[in-house]
Amino acid sequence: MKPTKPQTILITGATGAIGGALARYYAAPGVCLILHGRNAAHLDETAAHCRAAGAEVSTIQLDLRDIPALQKKLAEIAAERLPDLVIANAGVNINTGENRAGEQWDDIEALLDINIKATFALVNSLIPAMRQRGSGQIALISSLAAYYGLPVTPSYSASKAAIKTYGEGLRGWLAHDGIQVNVVMPGYVESAMCHAMPGPKPFLWTPEKAAGFIARGLQQNKARISFPFPLNIGTWFLAVLPPSWSERILLLLNYGG
Ligand SMILES: NC(=O)c1ccc[n+]([C@@H]2O[C@H](COP(=O)([O-])OP(=O)(O)OC[C@H]3O[C@@H](n4cnc5c(N)ncnc54)[C@H](OP(=O)(O)O)[C@@H]3O)[C@@H](O)[C@H]2O)c1
Repeated sequence: MKPTKPQTILITGATGAIGGALARYYAAPGVCLILHGRNAAHLDETAAHCRAAGAEVSTIQLDLRDIPALQKKLAEIAAERLPDLVIANAGVNINTGENRAGEQWDDIEALLDINIKATFALVNSLIPAMRQRGSGQIALISSLAAYYGLPVTPSYSASKAAIKTYGEGLRGWLAHDGIQVNVVMPGYVESAMCHAMPGPKPFLWTPEKAAGFIARGLQQNKARISFPFPLNIGTWFLAVLPPSWSERILLLLNYGG
């Protein structure tokens, strides 16, 4: 079943590159945007842009690691105006460092809290109301790094694999309740996070190009929205090849860690 055009859209990480571009993509008269972020200046700027495009906008300024505060806010949202589309986009990346120093536990813990725990909490909080209503769409932003653990980003790759698997499971379960779940797997998209990541960044997309591709995939209710095509095929192959081949390929391409 094709989803109807979503009217109320919740986007986490709307202060970032991809989240901000998605907010601007959807901003139009008749659309209600609920935009989340921590950076007040960026949140205000994106909200102002979306209002100028005719959207009704409300904002949530919250550190997603505060799960009780997140759940309280979502309960209010569910009671007042349950979103038609939820885009769980906020996330962080860490890496093993240019000098192979390794990941620090504090950073790993924060990454797991944001990328996995907060995302699961967000989705889990809204599912009961969506099931009761019998409609809704949930987009989970994973990454092409979910296909095969990259030596420069072991924790990040693992967290995005968790999101991918969670979304795939939810999609099957919630299809019976009229709820669409989509896993989004971007390659490299220009952003602060992408810039901070070491190594080559082939087929780099702008956030605007990524947002348009994601939105069209959501409109078609695609189970997996992955891009760009060459990198999607390449990273997918890493997962299906014998691991000894994948390791060699990563070394050859300078992703060896
Ligand atoms: N860019 C890429 O190449 C790429 C590739 C694959 C997947 N992705 C995924 O796409 C998503 C968006 O990434 P991006 O590239 O747009 O990165 P970005 O520009 O760095 O944005 C990250 C967003 O996450 C929010 N965030 C981080 N920690 C948070 C916390 N503790 N509480 C609340 N919000 C928090 C940030 O909010 P504040 O700035 O307000 O703190 C920001 O809005 C992420 O899930 C990322 O893993 C990105």
